[in-house]
Amino acid sequence: MSKLFTPVQVGRYTLANRLVMAPMTRSRAQSDGTPGASAAIYYAQRADIGLIVTEGTQPSDDGQGYLMTPGIYTDEHVTGWRTVSEAVHARGGHLFIQLMHAGRLSHPDNTPHHRQGVAPSAIDSGAQMFTPTGMQAAPVPRALSLDEIGLTIADFRLAARRAIEAGADGVEIHGANAYLIQQFLAPSANTRTDAYGGSIENRARFAIEVAQAIADEIGADRTAIRLSPGTTLWGIDEGAEGPALYRYLVAELNKLGLAYLHVMHQGNEALLSDIRALWTGTLMLNRSGRAREQMGADLASGLADLESYGQMVLANPDFVARVKANVPMNPADRNSFFGGGDAGYIDYPTQAAEPVQA
Ligand SMILES: Cc1cc2nc3c(=O)[nH]c(=O)nc-3n(C[C@H](O)[C@H](O)[C@H](O)COP(=O)(O)O)c2cc1C
Repeated sequence: MSKLFTPVQVGRYTLANRLVMAPMTRSRAQSDGTPGASAAIYYAQRADIGLIVTEGTQPSDDGQGYLMTPGIYTDEHVTGWRTVSEAVHARGGHLFIQLMHAGRLSHPDNTPHHRQGVAPSAIDSGAQMFTPTGMQAAPVPRALSLDEIGLTIADFRLAARRAIEAGADGVEIHGANAYLIQQFLAPSANTRTDAYGGSIENRARFAIEVAQAIADEIGADRTAIRLSPGTTLWGIDEGAEGPALYRYLVAELNKLGLAYLHVMHQGNEALLSDIRALWTGTLMLNRSGRAREQMGADLASGLADLESYGQMVLANPDFVARVKANVPMNPADRNSFFGGGDAGYIDYPTQAAEPVQA
């Protein structure tokens, strides 16, 4: 476990430890997408973790999928996020804003412009989404034109610039969990016949161009990307070619010299070790529901340089102290994951660090 508490270089930053708060949507932003009043408190409470990756944050109106998620494309968004950055920095922490374009996982009742979602192709995701009137099917999306793909990349670029203006240390591109970027990667969601569909190279093009554009804008050393090879969520099927697709994508992204690659592991251990070999930079690994006794194991084996944790950090503002002292964690309350007020957000108790009795 000791390697968890050694410093690590991530892009231009030296992080105090190798623990990371995984990105988590909380749906507590204001209705215009400005972070909510308690967001600064929530993140600052957790600022002694090596790095905070914020909740998914839309780069445009089109990018929003869920209710009450924050954006980073208006002056108000920048002002709101600056409050968060300043609070995290005041406690010595670092934060990357996760840029999330939901693509077809969107509902017109959830977005400011109330338009149909966009995607590489007009293919139904089969997803049910929470909306102001309850669960509804996500409508079949509209396929982006070639021009619109360029505009979407420009939206990502501008959002990254605005994140830096807001004081963030960098951005993490959300290329995982069946959202827009993974919709381009998966043949089940992408049947385009132009330069963005078909071959592995074409399906990977959008992800690479987004990463390149952001790296050009704010520096590769402040740009990161999250991938979830093999996800089967919401109609995503990368097919038998999936591992080859990721070997190609990771090798291409590796050339950009990004701050880190964040892998949300889905179980293909052979692919994971291939990714480790192909990625010469900093690798962050998330294993869903990782057991407490496994903490630090991927650092010790050399498979990862950083380990990210979601629900445990959500439920334990003093997560780092609890890991260090080996004391029990508060359980996470699923009922308050999304939406609502401060309950289940900034009121999880801390605990004096008492060693666990054997
Ligand atoms: C409430 C909640 C919201 C989440 N929102 C996001 C998100 O916005 N972006 C993302 O990449 N992953 C998101 N995830 C996935 C987490 O980052 C993480 O990969 C997952 O919870 C597994 O890690 P854990 O077992 O340590 O919680 C979310 C998870 C939870 C529990």
